[in-house]
Amino acid sequence: MSDLREALLRDLPDIRLLTAPAELEHYGRDWTRRWNPAPLAIALPADTSEVQQLVRWAARHQVCVVPSGGRTGLSGGAVAAHGELVISLDRMRQVLAFDAAARLLTVQPGLPLQAVHEAAAGHGLIYPVDFAARGSCSIGGNIATNAGGIRVIRYGNTREWVAGLKVVTAKGELLDLNRGLVKNSSGYDLRHLMIGSEGTLGIVVEATLRLTDPPPPSQVMLLALPDMAALMQVFELFQHRLPLQAFEFFTDVALRHVLAHGASRALDGDYPYYAVCEFDAATEAAEEVALQAFEKAMEQGWLLDGVLAQSEAQAAALWRLREGITESLAPYQPYKNDVSVRISAVPAFLADMQDLLGREYPHIEVVWFGHIGDGNLHINVLRPADMAAEDFIGQCERVTKLLAATLQRHGGSISAEHGIGLVKRDYLGSTRSAAEIALMQGIRRAFDPDGLLNPGKLF
Ligand code: MLT
Ligand code: ZN
Repeated sequence: MSDLREALLRDLPDIRLLTAPAELEHYGRDWTRRWNPAPLAIALPADTSEVQQLVRWAARHQVCVVPSGGRTGLSGGAVAAHGELVISLDRMRQVLAFDAAARLLTVQPGLPLQAVHEAAAGHGLIYPVDFAARGSCSIGGNIATNAGGIRVIRYGNTREWVAGLKVVTAKGELLDLNRGLVKNSSGYDLRHLMIGSEGTLGIVVEATLRLTDPPPPSQVMLLALPDMAALMQVFELFQHRLPLQAFEFFTDVALRHVLAHGASRALDGDYPYYAVCEFDAATEAAEEVALQAFEKAMEQGWLLDGVLAQSEAQAAALWRLREGITESLAPYQPYKNDVSVRISAVPAFLADMQDLLGREYPHIEVVWFGHIGDGNLHINVLRPADMAAEDFIGQCERVTKLLAATLQRHGGSISAEHGIGLVKRDYLGSTRSAAEIALMQGIRRAFDPDGLLNPGKLF
């Protein structure tokens, strides 16, 4: 390893490299905290040409490469635990261009999502993909996982908003994919292959993003519900009556953690389930429609209580109850499941899941939350203080196998928005058929015959 490190320092003297143990540890892991980081070195290229030089050097020396963004991933996609060269895009975080007529923003991959939002706002527009890690995650990582988040119900996933990509392949070639075109019916759309490929097909060095008009002013409601069946009824009613921007849920257990972590209580009583919903409400009439929907749900017994935010500060406080969950659970290093089913399959899937989890985790705390409006549930399992980490992971893996089988029966996915990475690699077959996986592996070989880009992830 030290010979290779010396060769790297000698061969690419102009590229910034980090090799101190603390730096290797910092850049070698993501939010999963499950694997011990052990990269060869961390490279911080300043531009596309340096990314190409690094990839070519890695190919010459048959060194594996881990592309790295904000490392907020939850599936181990950015982990470097086997002497890989980490190519961090941290220094490539500029806004490169804005095309007003086409409403396109071209950015470098290391730009944090929040900075993309700010750049769009500077032109009176929005980039609508959004989620709690906005300040730390990078747009390149969002593209690599086809990130979803809290506004998918209105705007879709990252994929919908990528109009062009420049990508460095494992051979060091630069591909310029789709170039911001709206219409381009000229064969396979390699841009879409790159989105969600988790760094296994190439390294995004430039992204051209679609922007759109900001939505009308909105209102935020917190709803308290008796059970998941009621949650689905309320979702259906609200979806029918209100222009929803978001419809998210969490349980009393999640609320307990987020309150203990500093969030403020919004309702006096304690209830089993909660939903945060945001909807366009530019006029008093729109607000009236929302209140009528609320009353109808109360009459039906689907709602137990609720509050409509009276100010922007209160709306932010209600959102914090949902968005603060991940951070409040982080000290427990939870085992995370991020699953989805078609929205119409949610009630039956939930019933099976509640049975399964109640049976398999009788004495273990399981925290549910997620993007119920997209059929996407986050099931976080917390390690009891008296259980060894290995035993805990073993038990979680065993239950994930059962969960994967349940998902398969309901036609769902083992990863809705976090990616497969290392964490869900063994369960890919529950979501994708053997024929699909063989084709995916063939695609990977076509782009990267030596298997040097993010090996071990996805397959
Ligand atoms: C969320 O919805 O908050 C994110 O996907 C993060 C998580 O699942 O912890
Ligand atoms: Zn999520």
